[in-house]
Amino acid sequence: MVAKEDFLGRDVVSIDDFSVDEINYILELAREIKDNPAQFRDSMNGRMMSPLFFEPSTRTSSSFQAAILQMGGRVLDFDVHASSIKKGETLRDTLRTIQGYGSDVVVIRHNKDGSARFAADVLEVPVINAGDGQNQHPTQTLLDLFTIKEIRGEIGNAKIAIAGDLKYGRTAHSLAIALARYKNCEVFFISPDSLKMPSDLLHKLREMGCCFSEHSLEEFKKVIENCDIVYVTRVQRERFPEGPEGEQEYKKVVERYHLKMDMLENVRPEFKVMHPLPKVNEIEAVIDNTKYAYYFQQAKNGLFIRKALLFLIMGGQDG
Ligand code: CP
Repeated sequence: MVAKEDFLGRDVVSIDDFSVDEINYILELAREIKDNPAQFRDSMNGRMMSPLFFEPSTRTSSSFQAAILQMGGRVLDFDVHASSIKKGETLRDTLRTIQGYGSDVVVIRHNKDGSARFAADVLEVPVINAGDGQNQHPTQTLLDLFTIKEIRGEIGNAKIAIAGDLKYGRTAHSLAIALARYKNCEVFFISPDSLKMPSDLLHKLREMGCCFSEHSLEEFKKVIENCDIVYVTRVQRERFPEGPEGEQEYKKVVERYHLKMDMLENVRPEFKVMHPLPKVNEIEAVIDNTKYAYYFQQAKNGLFIRKALLFLIMGGQDG
């Protein structure tokens, strides 16, 4: 049986760091927080969070900051572009310095795979991975699972299509691993040929007993007609090789990859479109105002998941 104390002082580096029971516990607490925000108003009582964002972010950064501030905690501001990183300071030295100023938790986003694990090894305070390169984005996955449960009432027994940049998209990687651990989930990967799920991840999913299949963009419309949810992802331009070759490859795939309104004509009535955001042009704008779009509710759910995580990791006291 999972207890609140089990989370105290823990790092959140990978979605694999949690058992399914622990994930369900976090989702239930996030639901309680969403339904009764006043109960958690002062639960962080002066605790300090250091957000270290070495890559751009709107949702993850803002929702973590809103989460701790709304629960009575504080934020130690850190702007990478105005920091001594620009003078050549190492990540290790930066981390150790920030810890010395009284941070109770460090939230890190970095372009290098494994950077969150590195930070967790260097620091004594808990570290939360806010996205490391093309590897994982575990707090996004928790909010995605929360949203799937909100839409369907359960996570198990879902048919979910994950579409787009499955090669570089860390949100797709973490979500696929998480879904593989829920009963009877069927996952449909839809991508351009050059952006398929990495083979080591497919191997891992097979070992986990995940029921999945891979599909081309030509099958996009047909596949989603058999699904409860499509999880659309952006083509991660910033992770393509630099130079004209990478630019050409990006243009080639991005022009072919769109979810259009007419592709939804035969979907199930309760069908939903999710997206971790930011989106660029992969979803036709008219879909934003249909009953199918659920991505802004999904982004809002990030606040409740991040409140739940901070509360558990730092031993918050609810009213
Ligand atoms: N979903 C997500 O990570 O969004 P940001 O890059 O805006 O944080």
